Amino acid sequence: MTAASHDAEFPVARPRRLRRGPALRRLVAETRVLPENLILPMFVKEGLTEPVAISSMPGQVQHTRDSLRKAAREAVEAGVGGLMLFGIPEHKDAVGSQADDPDGVVQVALRDLAAEVGDDIVVMADLCLCEYTDHGHCGPLEQDGHVNNDLTLERYASIAAAQAEAGAAVVAPSGMMDGQVGAIRDGLDRAGFPHVPILAYAAKYASVFYGPFREAAEGAPQFGDRSGYQQDPANVRESLREVALDVAEGADMVMVKPGLAYLDVVAKVAESSPVPVSAYQVSGEYAMIEAAAEKGWLDRERAILETLTSYRRAGAEQILTYWATEAARLLR
Ligand code: PBG
Repeated sequence: MTAASHDAEFPVARPRRLRRGPALRRLVAETRVLPENLILPMFVKEGLTEPVAISSMPGQVQHTRDSLRKAAREAVEAGVGGLMLFGIPEHKDAVGSQADDPDGVVQVALRDLAAEVGDDIVVMADLCLCEYTDHGHCGPLEQDGHVNNDLTLERYASIAAAQAEAGAAVVAPSGMMDGQVGAIRDGLDRAGFPHVPILAYAAKYASVFYGPFREAAEGAPQFGDRSGYQQDPANVRESLREVALDVAEGADMVMVKPGLAYLDVVAKVAESSPVPVSAYQVSGEYAMIEAAAEKGWLDRERAILETLTSYRRAGAEQILTYWATEAARLLR
């Protein structure tokens, strides 16, 4: 029998009683968002002398080495739980050589952050090739323009080792290649990093909401799109399969991405996942709320907190959000 069938009826039942006043509402809130559950994605670009504003993501920048350190420190002080680092190299090529170069932009930034914030926050590295290849796809290509899955796995394993070597506390593969988690686990273990966890972008959809990110990370595909490797927005069963495969390959945490348009997927994954579930409030979600707020069409801070609450309510335990530092301050 469901709880509802035992419930009193009006006028004995008056659900509004528990909504009278903020103290009572706080007392009975089912869902809470904590700063330590938030992860801040950050962009660092090689060769910059000043941070560069990202026009489609007002308030976000491509960082210099210095501004990255400063922003990381601010996130720590606000109580944010993690950072997710994206690098933009000066030189791109067909195989994304800079991605696993010990002196590549992310490896340098990881060493900087280890010195700046140490273990005060979980420093994660996004692991993909689209920012590093001249064609903008997430791995080396075949003749026909498709990404070569198995060649890409070798690249990812090598990138994971380079990132761990540089101090990444977690690596987060986002390329949606088949077998990527297993290949990376193997690469990390062989390189002497059996303790470094993998946060797998397990259910990642081919989404229009990544638009602003592609300006931010300079990783837009130069031809075609990513629907040959990212998931079709029409599917949900496929997400459960992707999650199960990643967990079987050794994923320590799984992610659903994007979040807001996929909260049903978050909820289903959260119901069945044996490992922690994260969700990514992506660039397009950020841009929509910033743009509407700029026009005075909605209350920015309330929109931020309401969407974060919805992520948690759906079952996401960690939330990647560009508002992490600000939201952490609001939540204190
Ligand atoms: C790279 C990657 C993307 C995002 C995170 N990692 C872009 C893409 O897949 O095209 C999107 C993040 C965002 O939109 O905020 N594989």
